[in-house]
Amino acid sequence: MLDRSKRDFLTLRDLSRSELVALIQRAGRLKRGEESGTPLNGASLAMIFRKSSTRTRVSFEVGMAQLGGHAVFLSDTTSQMGRGESVHDTAHVLSGYVDGIMIRTFAQEEVEELARHASVPVINGLTDQYHPCQLLADLQTMAEAFGDAWTSAPVAWIGDGNNMAHSWINAAAILGFELRLACPAGYDPDPELVARARSATTVVTTRDPAEAVAGARVVTTDVWASMGQEGEAAAREEAFAGFCVDEALMSRAADDAIFLHCLPAHRGEEVTAGVIDGRWSRVFDEAENRLHAQKALMLHLLAPPSRNR
Ligand code: CP
Ligand code: NVA
Repeated sequence: MLDRSKRDFLTLRDLSRSELVALIQRAGRLKRGEESGTPLNGASLAMIFRKSSTRTRVSFEVGMAQLGGHAVFLSDTTSQMGRGESVHDTAHVLSGYVDGIMIRTFAQEEVEELARHASVPVINGLTDQYHPCQLLADLQTMAEAFGDAWTSAPVAWIGDGNNMAHSWINAAAILGFELRLACPAGYDPDPELVARARSATTVVTTRDPAEAVAGARVVTTDVWASMGQEGEAAAREEAFAGFCVDEALMSRAADDAIFLHCLPAHRGEEVTAGVIDGRWSRVFDEAENRLHAQKALMLHLLAPPSRNR
């Protein structure tokens, strides 16, 4: 086992502003090949997936391999968690084998419980409430487009006040950029989170996507029905009419605006093909940046100080 004191990454708020900025800069160095080697030689990451994944699974698994370690995939159908073994027991057992645990699940409370009982760092790979790893990649993609002066980039969130919206709210509060959220009635983000962020930065909430997008440099959205909400898809399609990011909406943004989407996307629902496949789109850079940003995260959480520049 590696020798280090335990740090978790359950929401973006687990990083200070300076840690977040340094992590994004390091992700850039890793991407450019300016930092290499295998500082996680011999380390292991357990990856618990209680929901589906393409990007998160592959980027963590490949990232660990590139850093000299390896990842172990666990799902409900192939582990005892699916048969009801408790989070408490799972946390203790896995802590005896691995150097870190990544979990994708439904309730944020489950991730918090896992972190309480695990003696190794726990990483939130998406819950119903937050998706902090995605934001690391999104912020890296923003920095590639506009530099990391953060305050110069108003961001417009269009659609559901969901896990991604919540993580954008945390990012805005930590880094200080303006965030405008256009969500239909009944699909607002957590008002407590919005109120807390407003003590740190400007957070505008509106029902009008055009108002949110006016002059924005980043326009971003997500699926209308997240994992676990498949049964609400029809009702949500009705509620989200008018919240599709199309070419007309993008034309209201800044001339150099970029479009981001965590993926997977539904062309013709939350975004048109013309936008996600068009000149604004940075979605595949954003997806690639999951790898670099999470390598920086794992170095931050898992590498012993002597091997962590
Ligand atoms: N964006 C994201 O988390 O993708 P996956 O669901 O494929 O991991
Ligand atoms: N809001 C989406 C994000 C997927 C990466 C979901 O939770 O399904």
